[in-house]
Amino acid sequence: MRSLILGGEGMLGRALVEEARRRGFAALALSRSVADITDPDCLSHWVESWRPALVVNCAAYTQVDACEEKRDHAFAVNGAAVAHVAAAARRVDARLLQVSTDYVFDGTASEPYTEEAATAPISVYGESKLAGEALALAYEGALVVRASWLFGPGGPNFAATILRLIDRGDAQLRVVDDQVGSPTYTPFLAAALLDLAAVGATGLVHYRNREPVSWHGFASEIARRVAPQLEVAPVATSEFPRPAPRPAFSVLDVGRCERLLGRPVARWRDGLDDYLTRLDRSTDG
Ligand SMILES: NC(=O)c1ccc[n+]([C@@H]2O[C@H](COP(=O)([O-])OP(=O)(O)OC[C@H]3O[C@@H](n4cnc5c(N)ncnc54)[C@H](OP(=O)(O)O)[C@@H]3O)[C@@H](O)[C@H]2O)c1
Repeated sequence: MRSLILGGEGMLGRALVEEARRRGFAALALSRSVADITDPDCLSHWVESWRPALVVNCAAYTQVDACEEKRDHAFAVNGAAVAHVAAAARRVDARLLQVSTDYVFDGTASEPYTEEAATAPISVYGESKLAGEALALAYEGALVVRASWLFGPGGPNFAATILRLIDRGDAQLRVVDDQVGSPTYTPFLAAALLDLAAVGATGLVHYRNREPVSWHGFASEIARRVAPQLEVAPVATSEFPRPAPRPAFSVLDVGRCERLLGRPVARWRDGLDDYLTRLDRSTDG
C-alpha cells in the first residue's frame, strides 16, 4: 500500500517506515522540517506529488509536561493540524490513520478501557490528542488507533531512560509503582497499524502489548536483564511531582483489535528482547 508517513523521523514513524518497506510498500516518510502538519499547503503539495493510498499521522507534540505550558502549540499540532492532514488525505482519496493515546482517559478505572469508555483527559496533552481524534474521525473511513507507553529504537522513551540510568552506575533506581499501563514496542505497533489498515478497520481501535505492568515492574524487568544486581525500589507518584498528571491506570482493552487481526497482541517482553538485541545489550531473556 503506497503510504505517506507524517512525523516520519519520530520513534513510531521510523518503525512504521521500516515495517512498510519490509512489506514492499512504497513509503514516503516526512519529518517536521519538510512537512509541518500545521501547514495545509505543504501537506497538499506532498499528497498531490506522492499520491498515497494511505496517510499515517505519527506527527505529534509528545512532550507531555511541556504541553501544560504550551497549550496553544499542543492544540495546534495534536488537534487542529489533524484536520489539515484529513483534508490532504481527502484530496487524493487516501485512507487516514491517526495515532492517539491512552492519556485520553483519566485513569480512575480498574478494568481495561474499551473504545466505548468515556474519555476524560487529565492533561493538556491528553485533551489535545482527544481533539485530534475527533477531527480525524470526522473524515469518513478514518482509523484512529490509541496506543500506550511506547518504547523502541530511535526515540527517547522510558526504557532508554532506564538503560541510561543503569549505565550511570547508580546503586539504586527509584521508579513509580502506582501507575499501571502497558508498554508497547513500536515495531509491533507498526505491524499492527499496517495490518489494521489492510483489513479495512475504521473508527477507534485500541492497541497495546501484553501484559499490563507498573513503571516499576517494567524498569525491574529491564534491570533484571542487563543489571541483575541493581536494586529497583518502588516509589509513589507523589514523590516525583511533574507538571502534567498521568493516569494511574491506563490499560487499554484490545478485544476489538484482536478480533480484527485474528491474533492476540504481542508481548512487550518479546519487544524488550528485540530492543535490547538491537542495542547490542546483553540479555538473559
Ligand atoms: N511516546 C508514547 O509513549 C506514546 C504513547 C501513546 C501514543 N503516542 C502517540 O504515538 C504517536 C507517535 O509518537 P512517538 O512516540 O513516535 O513521538 P515522537 O518520537 O515525539 O515523534 C513525533 C514526531 O512528530 C514530529 N512533529 C512534531 N510537531 C510536528 C509538526 N508540527 N509537523 C510535523 N511533524 C511534527 C516530531 O518532530 P520534532 O522532533 O522535529 O519535533 C517527531 O519526529 C503520536 O501520535 C503520539 O501522540 C505516543
